[in-house]
Amino acid sequence: MTHHLLTLKPFTTREIHQLLEDAKRFKAKEMYQFHEKLYVANLFFEPSTRTRNSFQMAEKKLGIEVFNVEVETSSVQKGETLYDTVRTLEAIGVKGFVIRHFKDNYFKEIEHMNQIAIFNAGDGCGHHPSQSLLDLFTIYEEFHTFEGLTVTIAGDIRHSRVARSNAEILTRLGAKVQFISPDAWKDEMNIYGTYVTMDEAIQTSDVFMLLRIQHERHDTKMSFTKESYHRAFGLTVEREKQLKPNCIIMHPAPINRDVEIADCLVECERSRIFKQIENGVYARMAMLKWGFEAIVGGEWK
Ligand code: NCD
Repeated sequence: MTHHLLTLKPFTTREIHQLLEDAKRFKAKEMYQFHEKLYVANLFFEPSTRTRNSFQMAEKKLGIEVFNVEVETSSVQKGETLYDTVRTLEAIGVKGFVIRHFKDNYFKEIEHMNQIAIFNAGDGCGHHPSQSLLDLFTIYEEFHTFEGLTVTIAGDIRHSRVARSNAEILTRLGAKVQFISPDAWKDEMNIYGTYVTMDEAIQTSDVFMLLRIQHERHDTKMSFTKESYHRAFGLTVEREKQLKPNCIIMHPAPINRDVEIADCLVECERSRIFKQIENGVYARMAMLKWGFEAIVGGEWK
């Protein structure tokens, strides 16, 4: 078992439940201490508000020293490879690397490095394990199980690392995953789940998860206007009223209001969007604990 957290695929369902249990303990304010003073570098090659600051909060709560590496002013701009950047920071004494990169599987270049822990904060259209874990945590808090839940993921499935990561792990944990997507953004090959109509999804969902359109990963301009996308694939005020009574709404954010979700639904009673963000800190603390335990050890206090 690797101590890097690159995707959730190598984790057994038992290990996932262990991570969720740890997240719960962190949320209940239980304390944990590593056996060594730790230094972590946050390297973000793509924009981020939630993931970056949430990891930073998780690191600080665990007493870890944080380096926010400014990629724009670092030697990456002089052509330095990711490996050389990471190797340099390792030589300086950094043990953990939280990395977001526009390239799918960027971590292949560095995953052989076994004296450090790498935490994937999102790779291109590939994976987003920390988002998945916080989504799992939020769903589990609500329903206390994954078995038998119907989770709809709606939007730009093909370009979404959130959809890909969540579909894989939710299916493995016993949920039924279904998708809604315009034909152009369907991904039939690399993803677990079936495509359904909006009507089917509205009637059957326990969790309704919306995605942002990943414009930055598209080769061509989309054919929808904001309004036409919202009418066809968004969660409108009318659709929200038809959801099952206990259905919750989720979105990894950033949100484009009135595109994937109606403005007034962002903080409606069913919405768990800000709860997801809150839970992200604890899910990431659990991930950091997992990764560093393998290298330096630590204990609950
Ligand atoms: C997502 C991401 O970066 O993949 N955001 C996030 O981490 N909360 C989703 C997105 O950018 O649309």
